Amino acid sequence: MALLTILRYPDPRLHKVASPVTVFDDALRALVRDMAQTMYEAPGVGLAATQVNVHKQVIVIDVSETHDQLLVLINPRILQADGSQVCEEGCLSVPGVYEEVERAEHVVVEAENEFGGTFKLEAEELLAVCIQHEMDHLKGKVFVEYLSRLKQTRIKSRMQKEAREEDKSKAA
Ligand code: NI
Repeated sequence: MALLTILRYPDPRLHKVASPVTVFDDALRALVRDMAQTMYEAPGVGLAATQVNVHKQVIVIDVSETHDQLLVLINPRILQADGSQVCEEGCLSVPGVYEEVERAEHVVVEAENEFGGTFKLEAEELLAVCIQHEMDHLKGKVFVEYLSRLKQTRIKSRMQKEAREEDKSKAA
């Protein structure tokens, strides 16, 4: 297993659109394991392959307190979405930023697991938010894009400044 490097907003690679997975092999399962380890280590409740610069439709999620309810969603599609909820979201690619985003309250998703089996999942509250947030990543969308232009500009310059400071301390 290996920890993967998480891309930081505003890295342009976060805006690539992921392609569907067609081969369910050991390499895919290794990616899923590495993504899960990276998410738990961060720690975070969800990670999309886009965030580790792999542009395939792969998501790992675990919203449990005990960190033992790993959910793997490959090629996820929303079959049904209704209601609305506003939730404060964060993202491993935008560390330290938490902002409210409106999402569907309840979703029904169909996806494959890492062995190619298809399953259906019904989700609400935090899990529903998380699924929608991670599915946006696969479309190249980061949650800050729901915010006002002004906020986005502020977040972008804050992230760039932090990245510069980190580079400096690495060089020192
Ligand atoms: Ni995210």
